Amino acid sequence: MIAQRAYAVEPWTVRETDLNLDVLAQSESVFALSNGHVGWRGNLDEGEPHGLPGSYLNGVYELHPLPYAEAGYGYPESGQTVINVTNGKVLRLLVDDEPFDLRYGRLVAHERTLDLRRGVLERVCEWTSPAGSTVRVRSTRLVSLTQRAIAAVAYEVEPVDSRTRVVIQSELVANESLPEPDGDPRAARALKSPLEPEEDFASGLRLRLVHRTRRSGLRVAVAADHTVSGPERTTTSAESNVDVARLTVTSVLEPGQRLRVEKLVAHGWSGARSRPAMSDQVEAALAAADHSGWAGLLRDQEAYLDDFWARADVEVDGDEEIQQAVRFALFHVLQAGARAERRAIPAKGLTGSGYDGHAFWDTEMFVLPLLTYTEPRAVAEALRWRQNTLPAARERANQLGLSGAAFPWRTIEGSEGSAYWPAGTAAFHVNADIADAVTRYTAVTGDLDFERETGVELLVETARLWRSLGHHDHRGDFHIDGVTGPDEYSAVADDNTYTNLMARQNLLDAAEAVRRHPEEAERLGVDEEESAAWRAAAEAMYVPYNAELGVHEQHAGFTRYQRWDFAATRPDQYPLLLNFPYFDLYRKQVVKQADLVLAMYTCGSRFDEEHIARNFAYYEPLTVRDSSLSACCQAVIAAQTGHLRLAYDYTAEAALMDLADLEHNTRDGLHIASLAGTWMALVAGFGGMRRDGDTLRFAPRLPEQFDRLAFSLQILGRRLRVEITPEKATYTLLSGPSLTIGHHGEALTVGTEGPAVGMVPATPDRPAPQQPPHRRPNAR
Ligand code: BGC
Repeated sequence: MIAQRAYAVEPWTVRETDLNLDVLAQSESVFALSNGHVGWRGNLDEGEPHGLPGSYLNGVYELHPLPYAEAGYGYPESGQTVINVTNGKVLRLLVDDEPFDLRYGRLVAHERTLDLRRGVLERVCEWTSPAGSTVRVRSTRLVSLTQRAIAAVAYEVEPVDSRTRVVIQSELVANESLPEPDGDPRAARALKSPLEPEEDFASGLRLRLVHRTRRSGLRVAVAADHTVSGPERTTTSAESNVDVARLTVTSVLEPGQRLRVEKLVAHGWSGARSRPAMSDQVEAALAAADHSGWAGLLRDQEAYLDDFWARADVEVDGDEEIQQAVRFALFHVLQAGARAERRAIPAKGLTGSGYDGHAFWDTEMFVLPLLTYTEPRAVAEALRWRQNTLPAARERANQLGLSGAAFPWRTIEGSEGSAYWPAGTAAFHVNADIADAVTRYTAVTGDLDFERETGVELLVETARLWRSLGHHDHRGDFHIDGVTGPDEYSAVADDNTYTNLMARQNLLDAAEAVRRHPEEAERLGVDEEESAAWRAAAEAMYVPYNAELGVHEQHAGFTRYQRWDFAATRPDQYPLLLNFPYFDLYRKQVVKQADLVLAMYTCGSRFDEEHIARNFAYYEPLTVRDSSLSACCQAVIAAQTGHLRLAYDYTAEAALMDLADLEHNTRDGLHIASLAGTWMALVAGFGGMRRDGDTLRFAPRLPEQFDRLAFSLQILGRRLRVEITPEKATYTLLSGPSLTIGHHGEALTVGTEGPAVGMVPATPDRPAPQQPPHRRPNAR
């Protein structure tokens, strides 16, 4: 676990000044750079030592058989696993006769800085070799947000006190050996040598390798070009073999002299294009990058991020750690989605191989909300990816005897990758989550082309699924039986409230969408009868309620179950999934992650304030937060019900999930949903933001620890800035025509003539909800 304050607390950077080899894998995730297409873990430039080497291309995976002790109908036959592709970041260094390897010699100074404003990872270190030569190494690394195929490194060496012979080997390396996985089901299957060589090339300052995955048949090409500057008599030579292409740069440096290598790396992959076409593709990408040069790439990166921060920054006064963490979160969420372009946004982004590189509902319910208000283009692309996978989702529905589309619980390329039915396919709510993301995006952007070309189809196919999955009982109530909601400690249950309410919304939104787009409806074969049936199912949607307790049930019958024996559960037995059989978890009242509580946020208008408070008080003592997706949701409802201190502690947990490695698995990659959840906790929690159609409502209230919270949102061609202090909220229109918003139940018009101000009312006084023993969030 990363000790507290492994990183300096600074507003715009994440900086380490010590190199702790025991937590190298964690820092590689924290310092990962990505643009959503290419991902480079923060491995040291020299390649070793490493925790987990990682270079990823979004969509590049290998297939592996899924063995079942007892197979059943409809079980997926093969699994998909993200693979470590050809590594273009390696720059090995020889200092006089010795390899620059931080496990030997003496590390005199070390600093790595992730610069969130500029989008680069910088490193400065000074090292004395075992034989006594001291060198200073500086590197700057970026994964370009403007040229999606490109990543680049500038690497510089200088001797500190004596004439030194240095050799830099800049490499492309395929099939790196990887550490064995540790048996945690959430870690990835490491596939040995997944890449078959097809072409290697080295000449002048250029390198190239082309490989192909063995079973999935995807071709991966990586090429590099270099600019070398050093004293006279600096020499270079290039060579390649099947898995390594290498440029060797040799020089003798006097103190004060530097050897600098700028390395531009282009990546490409395809399931269809030929080897020559892939070679050409990466060479062309490299030519474009050469045209910009290192300095140009750096400038473009800064400009891209200036623009992003102007739209998306969140300011927090009063808690420097949360200030840093929310910017870290925004940066990594942007990195995960910015240039994914019709590919999935995986649960770990491209920062590690955890969860086999799969995407889940995390994307639609956690990542896309943030991006909808800050980087909407990326949302449209992510949903177009879902649309591209519709053939697989339709086939899956058909295989399951259902209509419409059944999107996978976890996947890379679109087909179901979950080998565990109860927490996989049965989690049908992912379909309503996708529909919700469609509706949110179109309401917030007004992008009618998207709605027509992509939105309607996604809404219709998911609505069809619900209609076939559910049924009307003898009283007419509509039930959806035998499904798994967000809480994975309950499975295959009837009428999960979250699922039912989200499906209800999905059905209504589909009916509305076909009304607005009759041509699309006709193309998709939707007639009056069908959309009327969707409305009827929505109106009759059953919501289980325990009248004696006065609370909503997570699913029908949930409140009747025996409570989990929390008193007998030791702190080291969490997460429960690693220590108890699912069988037992399923038949007790114990909640892995916000489920009913999440429903009260996403479908808030279906609950009155009193029930929200009562339900929250009921579910808090049952919720163990064994998923990193939970704390941010609990923060939102804690804030809404006036438990500001608790909301603050949950916000900090979501925010520090990776910077403090709270779940001890940051090594496998960052928790992108929890990072996005930090934004959700601040904006929807303390900002109290909710959306009704295309209108935003706010109910801001700050915890004692915050002096000020400010954020910006894009809505329907406007930019709105919200600034909250303990007493009041100020809404300013930064651009676009005036709009009406809600503030604690009152309508305010925010216009060009000046900001609108609303006062913050007193916080309702309610008894503090309890958490299970040992599961209270850390008090800050
Ligand atoms: C959670 C799921 C989530 C997945 C990936 C699991 O532990 O229970 O809700 O989608 O992790 O983040």
